Amino acid sequence: MTIDSVPPPVRLPAVAPPLTDGVVHLRPIRVTDAPAVARAGDDPEVARWTPFPSPFTERDAEEWIGSRSARETVDWVVTDREDGTEVLGWVGLHDLDAGQRRAELGIWLAAGARGSGTGRRAIALLTEWGFRELGLLRIAALCLSGNANGRRAMAAAGFVPEGVLRAYEDVKGVRYDTAVLGMVHPDLRD
Ligand SMILES: CC(C)(COP(=O)(O)OP(=O)(O)OC[C@H]1O[C@@H](n2cnc3c(N)ncnc32)[C@H](O)[C@@H]1OP(=O)(O)O)[C@@H](O)C(=O)NCCC(=O)NCCS
Repeated sequence: MTIDSVPPPVRLPAVAPPLTDGVVHLRPIRVTDAPAVARAGDDPEVARWTPFPSPFTERDAEEWIGSRSARETVDWVVTDREDGTEVLGWVGLHDLDAGQRRAELGIWLAAGARGSGTGRRAIALLTEWGFRELGLLRIAALCLSGNANGRRAMAAAGFVPEGVLRAYEDVKGVRYDTAVLGMVHPDLRD
């Protein structure tokens, strides 16, 4: 096991760099995205598996975008073309621990963007960037245990199920078990 090739950890950039695999495009989120983020995120499946309220209004979206920058986060919107204004969803890293070189990944997509590989591609783009450019050694993804699609998408992008945190999270007044999935830097894989 060697981590010699891993660059030293760096702080999260103030603005997320654009990332693409030629099919899915990630560009930095902007406060002006609030109306499009509200349209994309106002959805029963997003409300079911994330803390987003239902309905999820433009004002909720503005507050959410603002609140993200108060944490150690870096956030992208998912679009179908470079600098696209149509928002297909969001993907981001938060709770960066620079000393321990780890962070947590989150994602949600609009209903019309699901089920065609966009989630897997966006997750893969972000994890590759996190290991290569940020110097992370571990990225975690937490999914409410009942969220089979969320767990499948993480696994399809290379996350490995690591266990269940019992009664970990309160989402809208219900206490949920939460599945932990993890991905480690390629140099640390068996
Ligand atoms: C979870 C989510 C981001 C997945 O994105 P996606 O683009 O729909 O997923 P993909 O099309 O890339 O599929 C990835 C894998 O998950 C499976 N999957 C995803 N959604 C599925 C669905 N609705 N039904 C069946 N399988 C599904 C796919 O079969 C695929 O597995 P495979 O590669 O073994 O075939 C998206 O469904 C979503 O936003 N859900 C609501 C919010 C949410 O749950 N966020 C995640 C919190 S952990």
